[in-house]
Amino acid sequence: MAKPRASYICEDCGARHQQWSGQCGACGAWNSIIEHRPPRAAASSSSAAVAAVPLGAVEDDAAVRRSTGMSEFDRVLGGGLVDGALILIGGDPGIGKSTLVLRAAAALGRKRRPVLYVAAEESPQQVRMRARRMGLESSAIHVYPDTEVGGALTEAERLRAGLVVVDSIQTVRVEGLAAAPGSVSQVREATVQIMQFAKASQTPVMLVGHVTKEGTVAGPRTLEHIVDTVLYLEGDDFHAQRLLRSVKNRFGPTFEVAVFEMRGDGLHEVPNPSALFLAERDAQAPGSAVAVPLEGTRPLVVEIQALTAPTAYALPKRLATGFDLNRLHMLLAVLGRRAGVQLGQHDVYVNVVGGLRLREPAVDLAVAVAIASSARDQAPGQQVAAIGELGLSGELRSVPSAAVRVREAERLGFTRCLVPAASARNGATDGLGAANLAEALALALP
Ligand code: TYD
Ligand code: MG
Repeated sequence: MAKPRASYICEDCGARHQQWSGQCGACGAWNSIIEHRPPRAAASSSSAAVAAVPLGAVEDDAAVRRSTGMSEFDRVLGGGLVDGALILIGGDPGIGKSTLVLRAAAALGRKRRPVLYVAAEESPQQVRMRARRMGLESSAIHVYPDTEVGGALTEAERLRAGLVVVDSIQTVRVEGLAAAPGSVSQVREATVQIMQFAKASQTPVMLVGHVTKEGTVAGPRTLEHIVDTVLYLEGDDFHAQRLLRSVKNRFGPTFEVAVFEMRGDGLHEVPNPSALFLAERDAQAPGSAVAVPLEGTRPLVVEIQALTAPTAYALPKRLATGFDLNRLHMLLAVLGRRAGVQLGQHDVYVNVVGGLRLREPAVDLAVAVAIASSARDQAPGQQVAAIGELGLSGELRSVPSAAVRVREAERLGFTRCLVPAASARNGATDGLGAANLAEALALALP
């Protein structure tokens, strides 16, 4: 067989080149191109001739879905784990990725064939300690204590593993590849080999991946393109809530979200997250409003707090936690010009309770109501929730799935839901319609 020809890939963007050069033509990075020799073992795989199949004759993918033992995790996956699926779970170090996959591993290992847990980052003792802490000393989990991918996959075949967990993809290495573990060429080659294994043996594989400072899994283009599903586990150090978000899914809907809570004995599902986000709300306090963002297909009811205070600075301070600061500036301008809430001499602080990050314009109205409520020192009615996007002329714009949001708010006792007049008119919801910000404020803060 011919010796595999060397190619060159950029360590920054993963682009492939025919020859070495000082600068990558694809992303412009300097000194990032390295030689890449495909490992010899992998080169022998393409021997059998494969026949093409007419599309109509392709077997229907009955897609048996297996439960991870956590219905919230299943939902984000699109209804459970599909055989042969390659799933990447990304997140900041320490956020709880290993904890999450270990729990899924224990549940799947109990129900079917053993699980192979490739402990490439921690020692088997550390994995065992975590399992004990979580009360999951499942003998169906087999820990593989080495970082070499080929050996791990051979072991998975020998065990006829029903699930393989690779923790983490940045610490495994491919035999015969010179680059350091964690480099783009290692991560990419390892992922490709794991992908081939997953598809050939129809074994689902979960890859744990650390997020870099730039907020993407190392080798973003390399990894996210190869895998079937990309999930991110998010949260912050000061709150126990964790959000599992799907950003790519070949087997289900994207932007689906599940809420978990980190406790002393592992990650637990939060089946009713809205109640959690509202738990400590003081409905009598001015400056508090209730928003209904949609995370994936699921509505959440969350509290938004605002505080306005006369400024001691030449330039008043604006601070937003969990909300876009530029959007806050825009809302303050709209409040000033269209609703007479002048805050040019006031500092304004906005906080989304519970560590959530809201990116949806549909929460505009709730933020504006919270600010106006603080400015007027008047609490909105106890049953008021606010839904709607604000335009620059103060108009309230309709939002997707208004009816679903109203229903979730009502379920939690918010019977006076402010919605854009357009949504109320078409009869989709029984919310209180308002055409613009001034009307909405008149209803929220009578
Ligand atoms: P871990 O799953 O190791 O994070 P990652 O794999 O994403 O780096 O979780 C690490 C943190 O979670 C650590 O700070 C301790 C905390 N933790 C708990 O609070 N309860 C638990 O049951 C476990 C296992 C971890
Ligand atoms: Mg870990």
